[in-house]
Amino acid sequence: MNVSRRDVMKGVGAAALSAAAMKTGMAQAVESKNPPTADQVRRMEWWHAAKFGMFIHFGLYAGHMRHEWAMEDEAIPIAEYQRFTQLFKPGHGSPRKWAKLARVAGQKYMVMTTKHHEGFCNWNSKMTNYNAMNYGPKFDLVAEYVAAARAEGMRVGFYYSLMDWHHPDGARCKTDEAARRRFVDYTHGLIHELMSNYGKIDVLWYDVAWPLDAKGWESEKMNKMVFELQPDIIVNNRNKLEGDFSTPEQRIVAETGGRAWESCMTLNDSWGYQRADDNWKSSKTVVRNLISCARDGGNYLLNIGPQPDGGIPPESIRVLTEVGEWMKTSGDTIYKSDLCLPRRSNYASFTRMGNTLYMHVHFWPGGDVSISGLGQKVLSAKLLKTGAAVKVSQDGFRTHVTGLPMMAPDQPVTTIALECDGVPTQDTDNVRINKPRAGVGYDGS
Ligand code: GLC
Repeated sequence: MNVSRRDVMKGVGAAALSAAAMKTGMAQAVESKNPPTADQVRRMEWWHAAKFGMFIHFGLYAGHMRHEWAMEDEAIPIAEYQRFTQLFKPGHGSPRKWAKLARVAGQKYMVMTTKHHEGFCNWNSKMTNYNAMNYGPKFDLVAEYVAAARAEGMRVGFYYSLMDWHHPDGARCKTDEAARRRFVDYTHGLIHELMSNYGKIDVLWYDVAWPLDAKGWESEKMNKMVFELQPDIIVNNRNKLEGDFSTPEQRIVAETGGRAWESCMTLNDSWGYQRADDNWKSSKTVVRNLISCARDGGNYLLNIGPQPDGGIPPESIRVLTEVGEWMKTSGDTIYKSDLCLPRRSNYASFTRMGNTLYMHVHFWPGGDVSISGLGQKVLSAKLLKTGAAVKVSQDGFRTHVTGLPMMAPDQPVTTIALECDGVPTQDTDNVRINKPRAGVGYDGS
């Protein structure tokens, strides 16, 4: 069965993917009800091809250096929190450095927090003085970010938190209709500014809809306005409507009915800069996550939390640079990947392009590798890094790749390309049931 990106968009292939997911214990898969409309297919084409994006969490919390939820998690009084405006001092040019790193890493789009839950607006807003022109940067950070992203060839996304811990109506809007009216007008007004003043915007990434529902936020009207101002934009599902894509957070959860999805993740444990958070993911983990997303038709949005001066934490630079090195060789196996069925291995994961299966070996066993139950004949195989051909033998159960170097030829993951005589499938049940069992030890010998 040939399961292509186009098929996925039409909702075909869901059953095959679900079956494969169940068989290998990839429990994290949800079947969506509504396959994409023709307009969604059109607007989302670039995004599906992009696969890998950079999330940027940057606001007053960067100045505080203790995580973007500190204001609530530490119950910091407003007056005290507002003083972080004096610590939040990004230099001109910081967004350009983020965008350059994104390009080096192989990322194709960026999504920056225009306003996080703390309520501070990173742009020149006419709706509130609590913004980057008056405090903190003292320049329009959003404008600089948009220009920087464009200059590095990135698509541009805006994150926007509906929840607001600073605005006086941000909580009471739940129970007080006059407050709700004011706060919804304020919210729609801010989004209107963002959608009007910065040229073409590619993604609007809503976050946390507390304390209202879609009706309370007037989300239908919100999206209608957004699409009137930005007819090509895509929006996520966090204003309590379905939007164009799902947003599993800190997990990889594939949608199997053709609905688009993007897994967003931190590089350590915090979105906003947290000085003491040293729980960094390795480049190997990042590459493996990227492979998992691509294999199952999703995108990967990976976060950086810049320091108060706009600098990128050195660990983030190191990891993203290593990922970018790997992408130079293996990038196409991600960007152009079709849905991929083979997935069972304890040292590799897979993507595929047409009939070619890419075996991404993350724990290099040395000398030889095997795939169990591959249903196709392998016509040729090579190491992607060196282009060197490798030997393959098949006995109907095992596909055995031999003559490999003892040391992994690439870091953090080595990709082996196996050109098959059809779209690769894997049947490990057949191996378990039908692979001949030897009689040694059972015949009294
Ligand atoms: C959560 C958090 C937030 C972060 C977001 C990213 O909703 O509240 O801090 O911005 O996830 O997905």
